Amino acid sequence: MAVERTLSIIKPDATRRNLTGQVNAKLEGAGLRIVAQRRIRLTREQAESFYDVHRERPFYGDLVAFMTSGPVVVQVLEGENAVMANRDVMGATNPADAAEGTIRKAFAESIEANSVHGSDSAENAAMEIAYFFSGCDIVG
Ligand code: RTP
Ligand code: MG
Repeated sequence: MAVERTLSIIKPDATRRNLTGQVNAKLEGAGLRIVAQRRIRLTREQAESFYDVHRERPFYGDLVAFMTSGPVVVQVLEGENAVMANRDVMGATNPADAAEGTIRKAFAESIEANSVHGSDSAENAAMEIAYFFSGCDIVG
C-alpha cells in the first residue's frame, strides 16, 4: 500500500474541551504524520460547501450549525494507507458504536459532536485537501 494523504478536521466539540493535543497524539500513535495544520473558524458558506454531499440529509442544517459553532483544526495527514488508517483510528460515526482505543470512543460527545472528520476515499481526500490547503502549505 502506498503512502497517501487524507484530510482531517478536529471539530468544535474537541477544540472547546482543549483536546487538540490528545487527538493529535492518537493520530500520531496510529502512524499518521501531521504534514499541515491550521486552526480556523469555518464560515457558514465554507461549512455548507464542504458538506454539500449531505445537503439532502435531515441532519445537514444542524451539522453546519455545529461545525461553525467554534474553532476547528484542519490538517493533512500522511502515511501508509492514510485514508483507511485515519478512519480506523477515528472510530464509528456514532461513539456508542466506536471501538475501544479510537478517538470517537475516547472523546466524542454524540453522533453529531463526534470530535473528528476524516476523508472517506482517496478521491475525496484530494478534493478536501485542496479545499483548505495549497501545495506549499504541506510539508511532508
Ligand atoms: P465525517 O464525514 O465527519 O468524517 O464523519 P462520518 O463519515 O463518520 O459520517 P457522515 O455520515 O459522513 O456524516 C458526517 C457528519 O454528520 C454528522 N452526523 N449527524 N445526527 C445524525 O444522525 C448525524 N449523522 C451524522 C456527524 O458529525 C458526522 O460525522
Ligand atoms: Mg463522512
